[in-house]
Amino acid sequence: MPHTRPAPGPHATPAASGAYCSGLRRVGILTGGGDCPGLNAVIRAVAKSLMRQCGVQVIGIEDGFAGLMGTTARTRVLDWDSVSGILMRGGTMLGTSNRANPLASEAATAQVLAHVQALQLDALVAIGGDGTMSIAHGLAQRGLRVVGVPKTIDNDIAGCERSFGFDTAVATVTDALERIQTTAQSHSRVMIVETMGRYAGWIALEAGLAGGADIILLPEIDYDLAAVAAVCREREARQRYTVICIGEGAKPHGGQLTVARRVATDTADPVRLGGVAHALCDALQPLLHSEVRATVLGHVQRGGAPTPFDRVLATQFGNQAAQLLMQGHTGRMVTLQQGRLDSIPLADVAHTQRRVPQDHPLLQTARQIGISLGEG
Ligand code: F6P
Repeated sequence: MPHTRPAPGPHATPAASGAYCSGLRRVGILTGGGDCPGLNAVIRAVAKSLMRQCGVQVIGIEDGFAGLMGTTARTRVLDWDSVSGILMRGGTMLGTSNRANPLASEAATAQVLAHVQALQLDALVAIGGDGTMSIAHGLAQRGLRVVGVPKTIDNDIAGCERSFGFDTAVATVTDALERIQTTAQSHSRVMIVETMGRYAGWIALEAGLAGGADIILLPEIDYDLAAVAAVCREREARQRYTVICIGEGAKPHGGQLTVARRVATDTADPVRLGGVAHALCDALQPLLHSEVRATVLGHVQRGGAPTPFDRVLATQFGNQAAQLLMQGHTGRMVTLQQGRLDSIPLADVAHTQRRVPQDHPLLQTARQIGISLGEG
């Protein structure tokens, strides 16, 4: 690929293509980790902002860091037209991988850095969750100029009060809970709905509240089986049905996480949770008169078009990432704090997660209106 600066096209602002651009000529962009609604909106915003303001050539890297880990780098040029019309599309136009880990060995790290050099990338935008941010931080320590953009339906990235994709997942789970309500009512059943979210209960908490769950069980509060059964029995007598929303990382007092599978050990996140709804169903059934059923929502929570909120947030995040690069600030992650766009060092984000704090106001709201959190 020739390393020539593309002429500012019809979309470029000539006044902006000066010193403000920090010498940027070519920038790589990738999406890592699980997919999430809003990824395409970020890609579009990063690319359009860099192209329009600095005439930067944007190189899309395929399948996350996996695209930089083979003997040949897998890339494609993203021009204005290729990133147009993708705002509302779910998934990622670049593909992703949640197994590729450039930090797994010295050789893997060297391979990635060699590809970045050969591609003559001045900087990289890495859109992903905590695993991707940890990798970005490791590569930044090795001299890569990188900016991170926080993505995840789990909303668990440290230092960022809302990641794009979360709002869409909450809307999907809320819709599912509403549908479960009507069938639970008709059959006088106890219906358990399992959400994603890993070790954080944000999806279960917000969707549980929005979808009218009677019991919300979170990874942050170990539940008491007897207390959950008591709420169901009380409702059997009074309202005849109960809807329970449980995060996949929840567990009973003294119990273990429910692990669905383990993936290759050199990944940043080798454990896949799942199945806790069935475990609770089996434990609860002998304690109740009514029938208990479990629904695991799974990947439907990650699919589909982003909500308007996520489209806007993703666009803001993407543009902010481009602004950081243009101002020469790297080794940082775009963030939202107290409703304001900002950035924080990747070092503050790597290897940590944001879970629901015990004093979160939504927990108090739930308790005060009579929603059980499974506490004894
Ligand atoms: O981090 C996003 C997430 O969807 C989690 O909520 C879930 O536990 C995990 O990814 C599932 O990953 P996979 O797609 O590899 O099963």
